[in-house]
Amino acid sequence: MRIKTKNETTNNNPIGIFDSGFGGLTVMSAINETLPLENLIYFGDTAHVPYGSKSKNIVIRYSKEITAFLIKYKVKLIVVACNTASAFALPFLKKTLKMPVLGVIKPGSKAAVFASRNKKIGVIGTEGTINSRSYLREINKISRCRVYQQACPLLVPLIEEGLNDDKITDIVVKKYLEPLLDKRIDTLVLGCTHYPLLKHILKKNVGEKVVLIDSAKATAYEIRNTLYKRCLFANSRSKKFLRFYVSDNPDKFKTIGSRFFSKKILNVKKIEMAC
Ligand code: DGL
Repeated sequence: MRIKTKNETTNNNPIGIFDSGFGGLTVMSAINETLPLENLIYFGDTAHVPYGSKSKNIVIRYSKEITAFLIKYKVKLIVVACNTASAFALPFLKKTLKMPVLGVIKPGSKAAVFASRNKKIGVIGTEGTINSRSYLREINKISRCRVYQQACPLLVPLIEEGLNDDKITDIVVKKYLEPLLDKRIDTLVLGCTHYPLLKHILKKNVGEKVVLIDSAKATAYEIRNTLYKRCLFANSRSKKFLRFYVSDNPDKFKTIGSRFFSKKILNVKKIEMAC
């Protein structure tokens, strides 16, 4: 009889992913590309979006209810695919849940430190993420860097309105980035799940020399490492599925969500939330 090596142990239970709405689909898309055999369940809290301007306690309350929902599907790992929820609720979820729980802030911070040469890093995100100073703390846990933060509350609505390529978005982006560029950052962390959709406009404004860090990809690599270490990879024999749940407006989710996921989303189920 042949003894199984670490990589041969498998677990076909799904990975649970959640966000305040559509943004986490950029993370789900990166996970799906990096780990094509994994079954994925996504929950978008469209009844409560945006989280970026809400208080810590309320975001923790929503996150608790969503993770309880995901656990019913026997998820093997939970991804907090929202920067604001990672900033506010991740420590609580890590303490209270039995399975591994990963957020997007640590992987993004690691990637930023790795990319920066002059150790001057800019971070853009929602008010909640920026005020929590979570990126600043994570980055400085890894290496001493100068971290310059900028809340960009207008970007989420502009992206959701589909104005990614609009002149108005270009003007707003310029205004937000000016103070960071004045500090001569060489790395910019996209600390909000929506911002990968603005990569081209951001790149145009920061110039070739500034590296953009997309937390979605960094998070997908971190998940791959965790699955490897814990022998939790799915195998090719399971019938792959991607499922989508929301707390409100499934039709809107299909339309807007497909832009974030870069693939058509066909089936979305609405779930009643208690809070
Ligand atoms: N998903 C949120 C984040 O990454 C942005 C949208 C919101 O404010 O809920 O912070």
